[in-house]
Amino acid sequence: MEKIDHEWNDDQCEEYRIKEVSVGLLCVLVVTFFFTLPSRAATQKSTNLFIQYPQLHYPRDRTTRQLIKRGEYLSKAGDCIACHTDTKNHGQAFAGGLGIYTPFGTIYSPNITPDKTTGIGHWSDQDFIRAMHRGIAPDGSYYFPVFPFASFTKINKADLLAIKAYLFSLPAIQKANQANEMMWPFSWRFLQLGWRILFFRTGEYQQQTQQSAAWNRGAYLVQGLGHCGMCHSPLNLLGAEEKKYYLTGGFIEGYYAPNITSSGLKEASLPEILAVFKAGKMLKGGGKVAGPMAEVNSNSLSYLRDDDLMVMATYLKQVKSHTPQSAFTGPITPKTGVKVYQKYCAVCHATGAAGAPKIGDTAEWKKRLKVGKTLVYTRAIQGFNSMPPKGTCSGCSDEAINAAVDYLINTQTESAMTLPVQQAMLSLKIGSEVYQTHCAVCHSKKITDTPQLGDKVAWKPLIAKGMEVLFVNTIQGYNAMPAKGNCSTCSNAELEASVKYMVEKSKTKGNYLLW
Ligand code: HEC
Ligand code: HEC
Ligand code: HEC
Ligand code: HEC
Repeated sequence: MEKIDHEWNDDQCEEYRIKEVSVGLLCVLVVTFFFTLPSRAATQKSTNLFIQYPQLHYPRDRTTRQLIKRGEYLSKAGDCIACHTDTKNHGQAFAGGLGIYTPFGTIYSPNITPDKTTGIGHWSDQDFIRAMHRGIAPDGSYYFPVFPFASFTKINKADLLAIKAYLFSLPAIQKANQANEMMWPFSWRFLQLGWRILFFRTGEYQQQTQQSAAWNRGAYLVQGLGHCGMCHSPLNLLGAEEKKYYLTGGFIEGYYAPNITSSGLKEASLPEILAVFKAGKMLKGGGKVAGPMAEVNSNSLSYLRDDDLMVMATYLKQVKSHTPQSAFTGPITPKTGVKVYQKYCAVCHATGAAGAPKIGDTAEWKKRLKVGKTLVYTRAIQGFNSMPPKGTCSGCSDEAINAAVDYLINTQTESAMTLPVQQAMLSLKIGSEVYQTHCAVCHSKKITDTPQLGDKVAWKPLIAKGMEVLFVNTIQGYNAMPAKGNCSTCSNAELEASVKYMVEKSKTKGNYLLW
């Protein structure tokens, strides 16, 4: 199958599985983490923009007051409020309960107010440092990595204690933590151990003596509290950031968090980068910052001092990472367009994620083509509002992108322009695209107990259940198979098309296309 957006390494999971059986399970488990990131934004998107920080009555004692104020500032830099507030249900700040959906169940963020019974009021300094630095709870169990301890491990102890002092000065809110609804075996916290052995390195930020103090402060904020890499770095199949591609771009809830290393920010001035954070202006005239980054700005970066934002920008402009190479820089054949589309565009254009015009939406494309084809090409190459420059393929040549645009447009003109949109959406081609984008991550990954595409033996008894049953099970979810195959934005027609595609590729005999 085509790899879709991140640098997923198919062989990695296999390799670990051979080494150790329990890690095989882990391969499935940590896919949760991968899904978890996009969903975090999903849960917050419409509601979270303007969370109020609690009004505090600072103590009179000067030292304590300063400590708490410093902790408040650092907590804002860490955006703790975003995940620890149940904005969907108008929950109180820091009292937890935000449901973070994964295909294997829901993780609820805990209450981190100082309530003694339901919050962290009984925690010692050591408990807090251990949780933030090592992702280990006071009872010794491991946290799921959606809690960004992999970044927070870089925060120094003095700063952590200031954050704790701030949290402990908040009004104590009595609100019991909601138990996570993780499906077996994903609820096994000890499986996290495997993830940690593979990827997690503890350790506070180390000053780089050959760099300036400003650079070091910027690096400390970006790598640690800011946890920018959680969205801006590509993740591998196991949900860990790809170190060598640090900050070269990642995916979150249909939005593309762009390359913010020296190569991505080459033409951006420091004031332009500051304007991203303070005025919500994307670079290169890209329009208004939207989606998850708009939330990061409003809950977090907009509270930071200019000098801190400036050192962060200075650091970012010097980050040197490898850029993931594109396979499509060579000569362009008609097939290139399809391939580029499937790998770098479908993730938004197959489903309409982030407001992208959907492939197959005739009326929408007709409207857009009115500006002329040249401008449409230019927008795909240079970016346009939430359409990132060159989709997710910063390494693609202009010609490769144009070929993908041609494919997007031609799908309309050749067949769909004359057909009602609904029928166009039901084509096997759409089914294949939905499949590649949303289902392949499990159904082409040899994940335990998931019927694999093309596995005739596994599919025979499933197909025998009848197509309606498969449709219903796909839409509603079925055991470890998540509802809608984890594609909450997919229409039922798209899901049915993808099931048909899977059945077509996996059947022993018969014709199911007319379903
Ligand atoms: C991306 C979302 C996210 C952000 C940002 C975040 N957290 Fe959390 N945090 C979580 C989740 C989810 C858990 C629970 C993990 C689990 O159950 O395994 C958690 C757990 C915790 C815990 C353990 C609480 C307990 O009762 O066991 C503490 C303490 C904590 N976070 C503090 C913070 C602080 C301080 C910040 C900001 C510097 C922060 N978190 C930022 C998602 C987040
Ligand atoms: C929750 C995910 C998330 C986190 C965390 C995050 N970002 Fe972003 N960022 C995004 C997304 C998504 C966009 C693109 C927004 C859009 O398309 O409107 C973006 C855009 C940007 C841009 C504009 C890039 C351009 O080409 O215009 C900059 C600069 C940036 N982020 C820096 C940061 C920094 C620095 C941090 C850490 C302090 C950070 N981001 C943390 C998701 C995130
Ligand atoms: C992160 C999601 C995303 C990805 C990936 C993406 N697009 Fe888009 N695209 C959008 C959005 C959103 C719009 C609508 C922007 C607007 O009109 O405000 C858009 C609009 C377009 C348009 C219409 C421009 C116009 O003139 O109206 C074209 C053409 C296009 N994209 C081509 C591509 C191609 C080709 C790729 C892959 C190389 C791609 N897109 C990848 C989100 C995406
Ligand atoms: C997170 C992993 C995951 C994703 C993503 C996923 N599936 Fe599945 N799927 C499963 C698992 C696991 C099963 C086996 C469930 C069982 O039989 O207990 C399954 C089973 C199925 C079945 C057979 C259902 C039955 O009644 O036996 C169909 C059909 C199916 N998936 C379609 C899809 C489609 C279509 C998509 C994408 C839109 C998708 N799946 C995405 C994990 C996934």
